Amino acid sequence: MAKIKKSILGHFCLEGKTAIVTGASYGLGRAMAAGLAEAGADIVAVSRKLKNLEKVKTEIENIGKKILTVECDVSKLAQIKNLVDRTIDMFGKIDILINNAGITIRKEAIKYSERDWDKVVDINLKGVFLCCREVGKIMIKQEKGKIINIASLMCFTGGITIPAYAASKGGVGQLTKALSNEWAKFNVNVNAIAPGYFNTPLTKPLIENPVRYNEITSRIPMQRWGKPEDLKGAAVFLASDASDYITGHILVVDGGWMGR
Ligand SMILES: NC(=O)c1ccc[n+]([C@@H]2O[C@H](COP(=O)([O-])OP(=O)(O)OC[C@H]3O[C@@H](n4cnc5c(N)ncnc54)[C@H](OP(=O)(O)O)[C@@H]3O)[C@@H](O)[C@H]2O)c1
Repeated sequence: MAKIKKSILGHFCLEGKTAIVTGASYGLGRAMAAGLAEAGADIVAVSRKLKNLEKVKTEIENIGKKILTVECDVSKLAQIKNLVDRTIDMFGKIDILINNAGITIRKEAIKYSERDWDKVVDINLKGVFLCCREVGKIMIKQEKGKIINIASLMCFTGGITIPAYAASKGGVGQLTKALSNEWAKFNVNVNAIAPGYFNTPLTKPLIENPVRYNEITSRIPMQRWGKPEDLKGAAVFLASDASDYITGHILVVDGGWMGR
């Protein structure tokens, strides 16, 4: 064990670290929370409904790590402040923040209401900014921290009938770079992961549409959709000391889709 700690493998270890994961109740967030816990971190799991966090709570406890579950809508500043206060009360610090909570509304642009637009952008972009800002204040004081924003391939492409989603994810990519520039001097790394097509509740409508499903699958060089567990490695890497000299980067995890 002592040998591993000194080796490069030791730099991937998250033992003693505290990680907030938003949108940890299902899909990608739940898998990344489990990945961080497997690497040694204690977890603060966030969702709009406490009840939705029961499964991840059991999973993290079975891994042998501590978990705090917090009900918080990431588009609401007061609730984010409460999340940060509760995390500090329990763990005294925040080493890692994964901004994963996100939604989409699929509609043609001309049918997209202002309300649809605001809902998506408030959660996917404003929510990421507010969580970064509130947790960033703590990390700047600590002079150490790792922020990982979950973007999307829609950081780079426009998608189909998801105008607010594509705009919000493009914004997440740019926000990641903007904050990484400001906070590098405080030893706070801000990176993003851009997942390709993953099988989760969010993508159910695509999976259930055979035309879209086949179209997408045939474009993926690996010829399969991602499983939420496929994100664990990238999340642990960007959360760990192994990525200390990486900031402002958008790491694509997509089975090769972007390169095609
Ligand atoms: N699946 C993909 O193929 C894919 C690809 C690229 C990017 N992404 C991104 O990855 C992230 C996770 O996606 P997913 O596929 O895992 O989606 P998902 O299965 O629908 O899960 C979304 C998560 O976000 C939470 N959430 C939604 N709105 C929230 C809010 N206002 N405040 C707090 N939590 C909120 C949900 O929890 P509650 O409902 O319990 O509140 C849930 O835990 C999203 O940002 C998504 O855009 C996904």
